[in-house]
Amino acid sequence: MKILIATEKPFAKTAVDGIRKIVENAGYELSLLEKYTDMSQLLSAVADADALIVRSDKVTKQVIDAAAKLKIVVRAGAGFDNLDLAACTEKNIVAMNTPGQNSNAVAELVLGLMVFMNRNKFNAGTGAELKGKKLGIHAYGNVGRLVARIAKGFDMQICAFDPFVNKEIIQADGVIAVDNVEELYSNCDYVSLHIPANDRTKKSINRKLLNLMPKGGCLINTARREIIDEDDLLQLLEERTDIKYATDVAPSNISELQQKFDIRVFATPKKIGAETAEANINAGLAAANQIVNFFKNGDTAFQLNR
Ligand code: 3PG
Repeated sequence: MKILIATEKPFAKTAVDGIRKIVENAGYELSLLEKYTDMSQLLSAVADADALIVRSDKVTKQVIDAAAKLKIVVRAGAGFDNLDLAACTEKNIVAMNTPGQNSNAVAELVLGLMVFMNRNKFNAGTGAELKGKKLGIHAYGNVGRLVARIAKGFDMQICAFDPFVNKEIIQADGVIAVDNVEELYSNCDYVSLHIPANDRTKKSINRKLLNLMPKGGCLINTARREIIDEDDLLQLLEERTDIKYATDVAPSNISELQQKFDIRVFATPKKIGAETAEANINAGLAAANQIVNFFKNGDTAFQLNR
């Protein structure tokens, strides 16, 4: 049985070592494809793989078709917009993610970005504090929940909007559950995005919504590039000279934004939200354990394509 790790952005070595141990203890073989630069490398690597572990790597129909022996693919992470679930289902391939395993790393980055933007991107000059300010969490999943927990330590007031989470669950964390997305953006000095990228959410963060933010509002996006309407964002930053945008998923027009808005815009050079040794170990080992449990016990917990 061959388990392939295919990561354009590799796991930390400790995570790979841990995965290897789990795979080899189960009597399977581990194969590693890291930092690949061409799709053809992935296509030939999956040809004899029984299981596949990826990060944000795109598992398209072409990849699935090239993987004649594949039975399971696990996205070591939360967002699964990189997996073609229909193609997996068609070939009876189980697709899973590892929800929650890398959330803390992303949540810590959110607060780091907020401080960074509040302090003029660590340049000289008068900044501002987070204490007493209102933070809006757009989607209260694993990351959103942790952002709320950490933000409490900064003495922020926290609101959240999530139509898929019971208000009682949000309120039990001492967070105000607002009724609609407009209320979240109108009331909060900071909004942190934690929605997935799918047909409903793509380009949903638009000018109309962002324009509701109070004076000096700051949007933080550690979720997905596709959820932002990039033309709208550009227009809004032009019209509202008080608004700031910090992201871990750079928009395609990032150089234009940085040139035009300098201190008001920041993007990490490459997505680093889940780039901690801890997150790599948690997500990578979970993926390996899920694969072993699937093969040995038929365990399909975390299956996405039921
Ligand atoms: C996720 O969905 O888990 C995060 O976006 C992390 O993605 P990455 O594994 O590509 O860093």
